[in-house]
Amino acid sequence: MVAQSYTVAFEGVDARLVEVQCALSPGMPHFSLVGLPDKAVSEAKERVRAALNAMSVALPSRRITVNLSPADLPKEGSHFDLPIALALLAAIDILPVDAVAGLVSLGELSLDGTLVPVAGALPAAIAAATAERTLICPAASGPEAAWVGSLPVIAPASLQAVIQHLTGARPIELSQPGLVAAPGGPVPDMSEVKGQERAKRALEIAAAGRHHLLMVGAPGSGKSMLAARLPGILPDLSPGEALETSTIHSLAGMLQDGGISRQRPFRAPHHTASMAAIVGGGKGAKPGEISLAHNGVLFMDEFPEYSRNVLETLRQPIETGDVTVARANAHVRYPCKFLLVAAANPCKCGYLADAARACARVPACGEDYLGRISGPLMDRFDLRVEVPPVSFQDLETTAPGETSMVVAARVRDARRLQETRYQGLDGITVNADASGHVLSEVAAPDAEGRDLLRKAAERVGLSARGYHRVMRVARTIADLAGRDKVKCPDIAEAVSFRIAGASG
Ligand SMILES: Nc1ncnc2c1ncn2[C@@H]1O[C@H](COP(=O)(O)OP(=O)(O)OP(=O)(O)O)[C@@H](O)[C@H]1O
Ligand SMILES: [Mg+2]
Repeated sequence: MVAQSYTVAFEGVDARLVEVQCALSPGMPHFSLVGLPDKAVSEAKERVRAALNAMSVALPSRRITVNLSPADLPKEGSHFDLPIALALLAAIDILPVDAVAGLVSLGELSLDGTLVPVAGALPAAIAAATAERTLICPAASGPEAAWVGSLPVIAPASLQAVIQHLTGARPIELSQPGLVAAPGGPVPDMSEVKGQERAKRALEIAAAGRHHLLMVGAPGSGKSMLAARLPGILPDLSPGEALETSTIHSLAGMLQDGGISRQRPFRAPHHTASMAAIVGGGKGAKPGEISLAHNGVLFMDEFPEYSRNVLETLRQPIETGDVTVARANAHVRYPCKFLLVAAANPCKCGYLADAARACARVPACGEDYLGRISGPLMDRFDLRVEVPPVSFQDLETTAPGETSMVVAARVRDARRLQETRYQGLDGITVNADASGHVLSEVAAPDAEGRDLLRKAAERVGLSARGYHRVMRVARTIADLAGRDKVKCPDIAEAVSFRIAGASG
């Protein structure tokens, strides 16, 4: 007889339903597993055998064949242990066949039958809910899966507990969603940054419209300090955004205690990180830092120090908001709509603008250093700002500036205006997403502004992308001021941020 159970295979953030079929047939005792399993899936046989042994369940002296269907879809990961064990237990009449066929399950088995948590419980739960089936997952993954409120989630601690539940001997209560995760430690406050008014303004515009920002300045001028304060002025994730971001974090096995966070992610990978770590890929085609930063901030400190390959690869995801990662036999797609904040010294020694401290190679060293950021990549920064060194006197005498709370309130109001404006428009939530006729409609400047934009475009040679990016930033500046129409000063400010640092 053939018994079935269901599980999922991950393709990027999507989980595809996989049918696990188990057949017993006469012949020499043998356990074979087919259907494009990778090494971890193939080893499931041994773990299942040992876990059943631990419960004193002997495998029948017959040929056992397990097929993972669709057979041409690659299966990766250790979460296939539980569905294979369930299909096998149904095939040997220990579990009711009908009950097992109505389940989607995932979980790794240890040799004593304990269920080990696996990554991806949240996307698996979304797939199970779509298929209208109950989900069984390891106890530690239950609170995470239960966030998809529309389906029952059973989260037992061991295979023994699954059997007791399915045979009615000891039913397990449904899992409840984990708590909303508390923000990861206190976020430092904006008021601690002395001076740097222009950089603070750029940060506020960046947060309000999700515009990419490049800060260039001497060592110790406060670039890293400013970036670290960005999470404090960004609004919380909407429930939909929180689920999207958490799905990616779930695939990376990063959701702590099943808690979903409303705080926007802030990812700051080191400049020595590999391409796979930043863009995604490697074993199992895991999401990279740019996808973990989805709906949040990607902070790339010492920007020119990243490998050229990494920097150039960023160009496409910045533009499209998603990234395609290659893996054996297939490609997977992860979303990555992030706010890119980059910081750089003006040159290798860092003191290009300070005649007393600059090295002998000035100004060539500055051209060499920032020249590592290619033209097309530079073109993607809507806001470029110089962060000058703060004098000792400024540090001593400047009164504390606005607190993060005050700035956050303005950002929140500007984002609300955008939400209302783009309601019903698929894929557009903030000004940075607007393009084509939507952009020309919502960001059309007044006559004076149009005049200025044309002059600026001619004088600094704005690219077509640059032209549109200026319009988006100007729209955000007008939103921060609560203005309905984009005016000349909005365009002027947007252009001033565009031309600092580099042309285009
Ligand atoms: N504007 C400022 N107001 C108050 N403190 C500052 C300011 N700028 C720098 N500092 C102090 O200097 C320290 C170093 O600043 P930060 O690390 O942000 O500099 P940086 O510009 O990132 O330098 P680097 O280019 O070397 O990375 C901060 O932790 C803070 O103590
Ligand atoms: Mg720094």
